[in-house]
Amino acid sequence: MSQLKTKHLLGIKNLDADEIELIFETAANFKDVLNRPIKKVPSLRDVTVANVFFENSTRTRLSFELAEKRLSADVINFSSSSSSVKKGETLLDTVNNILAMKVDMIVMRHSSPGAPHFLSRHIKANIINAGDGTHEHPTQALLDSFSILQKTGSVAGKKVVIVGDILHSRVALSNIFALQKLGAEVMVCGPATLLPKYVASLGVKVELDIRKALEWCDIANVLRIQLERQKMRYFPSLREYSIYYGINKSLIDSLNKEIVIMHPGPINRGVELTSDVADSENAIILDQVENGVAIRMAVLYLLAGNMN
Ligand code: CP
Repeated sequence: MSQLKTKHLLGIKNLDADEIELIFETAANFKDVLNRPIKKVPSLRDVTVANVFFENSTRTRLSFELAEKRLSADVINFSSSSSSVKKGETLLDTVNNILAMKVDMIVMRHSSPGAPHFLSRHIKANIINAGDGTHEHPTQALLDSFSILQKTGSVAGKKVVIVGDILHSRVALSNIFALQKLGAEVMVCGPATLLPKYVASLGVKVELDIRKALEWCDIANVLRIQLERQKMRYFPSLREYSIYYGINKSLIDSLNKEIVIMHPGPINRGVELTSDVADSENAIILDQVENGVAIRMAVLYLLAGNMN
């Protein structure tokens, strides 16, 4: 396989394992480029990309912008908080105005699940979903699985537990799809109130006890408690959450085995992870960030091959 089957990356659900592997092979080549003294290639020269963010972001927005610039694209950035959205402009009008400036690709983050899918039915530009509400965050899942591959040599056969706020997480759903397509076993672990009722129907194991989950797994991908999405209390307090589900050094040491610790960021230090775990040798949290640029270069490059 040498190209993706679609012109958009809206989620992992509709990608084949072959397509994910193509993205990984392309990302590995771009990672080599990023380690050279001259980190730039001309692949997206004359392509204009708009990063359209209706929600806050540090990693994803900067990582896409850097990936685009490393590929020599022209880049514009839109942030809803300083835009005419504040004056009542609709999503479609906003994007059509951006496209009227001859933009070829849109990278979009939006708080509404399905927003990039809606856009893909109305505009010609390639669309990359940079996170849509509680639905999917495909490039995060790709960089997470790619980081497992780079750290351990394979994704197939690995036991991966996703810990924490599964209910409000777009990272969890995209990770479940990606890991299963690549042949990993997946477990979710968290308080029952933060596990969606349908989650077992996705073919994952469900565990409420963090110690049992860590004893089972090779890799723990620990999610942020998403307080901004919680309209009611799902657990009594952050302190209680950290007592029952927080991962600290004494818990890790008591397992008598090594596990890889991942986190998509931003971390609530002292809540889901203590600093001595987040900053430990077995944590690959900053490797995930580094790999994110190569993964996003690969996605942009491959989708640019499907422009029309
Ligand atoms: N992992 C992630 O999506 O981080 P940001 O919200 O900072 O982009």
